[in-house]
Amino acid sequence: MTLMPTDELAPLQTTEQLVQLLERSRHRSERPDGPDESARPAASERVGILDHGLQCAAVLRRDRPDDLELQVAGLVHDLGHVAVPADADGHGRHGRVLFADLLGERVAALVELHVAAKRYLVTVESGYGGTLSPGSVRTLAEQGGPMTPAEVVAFEAEPHHLDAIVLRRADEAAKVPGRVVPGLDEWIPRIEALVATRRILNTRP
Ligand SMILES: [Fe+2]
Repeated sequence: MTLMPTDELAPLQTTEQLVQLLERSRHRSERPDGPDESARPAASERVGILDHGLQCAAVLRRDRPDDLELQVAGLVHDLGHVAVPADADGHGRHGRVLFADLLGERVAALVELHVAAKRYLVTVESGYGGTLSPGSVRTLAEQGGPMTPAEVVAFEAEPHHLDAIVLRRADEAAKVPGRVVPGLDEWIPRIEALVATRRILNTRP
């Protein structure tokens, strides 16, 4: 196993680089099929990372039509798995590094916090654990399991934690094999619009 420290990841600088990473995710799954039959993902978890992101973005576009940053965060939230395939635990942190420059601090924070949001919901919301997919249950333990009281306080102090919870619920709802949602072609102009808006804001005196 090759683990890559997050500080060796190069932050994305252009929409083209992001689209290339999304294209690379098209035939990747969070848990690739291995030779061990018992370790193979359930059918509900065979949605590829790109289709999963597109479903997640579609849920968020329906629920939060005016929040393009949240929608794009949903689209890209699992690309850390593609950039650093052997470090599932770190995929949120890797995503934060990848997207901070191009998509901004809020999108980057949402991507990182979607991992902690699962641990938070399992801790504070009775019944949430029963809604998780088998894969989410499995990775929950690897990610640290339920939060301690101090971790709950720290999570609730994060400025974007409420939107990270919205993203987390969309994430769990976005694992439906064969669901037809708008494709990557429809998202590229929206990503370009988000990037262009950020560039204008960043060049203002
Ligand atoms: Fe996800």
